[in-house]
Amino acid sequence: MDVLVVDHPLAQTRLTVMRDARTDSGVFRAALHELTTMVVYEAARAFAVEQFPISTPVAPTQGTRLANPPLIVPVLRAGLGMADSALALLPESSMGFVGLARDEDTYEPRAYMESLPGDLSGLPVLVLDPMVATGGSLVHCCQLLVDRGCTDVTICCVLAAPEGIQRLKDSGLPLRLVTASIDEGLNEKMYIVPGLGDAGDRQFGGM
Ligand code: PRP
Ligand code: URA
Repeated sequence: MDVLVVDHPLAQTRLTVMRDARTDSGVFRAALHELTTMVVYEAARAFAVEQFPISTPVAPTQGTRLANPPLIVPVLRAGLGMADSALALLPESSMGFVGLARDEDTYEPRAYMESLPGDLSGLPVLVLDPMVATGGSLVHCCQLLVDRGCTDVTICCVLAAPEGIQRLKDSGLPLRLVTASIDEGLNEKMYIVPGLGDAGDRQFGGM
């Protein structure tokens, strides 16, 4: 599995805002929107393009468009905060949704919602979730996609723990990961350290 770390200075400043415990939810969401633009922009470097004829006001020339715009899949809740930015960069894309909540005791994901096309063969998928902690949630989500025939999944996240990256690799699924940081690891409650806390709660408040 290819892993790309977006270590651009502007990405790191937004990540710092998100990590800071003093940041309120409005500022946190704004930083996540901006950081998502940078992470998706870097992820899209690998997308195939095709040429097609256009005319400028001066002369005919060749234009460029994405050969196969991806399906965007935010993982609810926390991935919702990345959805608008991704769709703004990829206006030709359509969107599916997966809802997962991590069980507080077992740390395994519980699926509560799924809205995806039945056949994903030939369609690249861009999965949005700010956090890869144990990796359980993203393995579950990506397995749903592969079960529908998808062979090309790019995960865009903000923070990934080494344990979660290893679990994604071990899954054997056809994945690529783009992240703004690989953090130190997980604590005893399976939170990313130093991390940023609970990405859903920091955006939307506690449940
Ligand atoms: C968070 C996060 C990931 C998951 C990561 O969601 O957005 O989906 O935890 O943990 P894992 O890698 O150990 O599976 P959470 O389950 O807290 O739900 P939420 O988005 O509704 O807050
Ligand atoms: N989910 C989060 O939102 N944060 C973590 O650190 C781990 C899982």
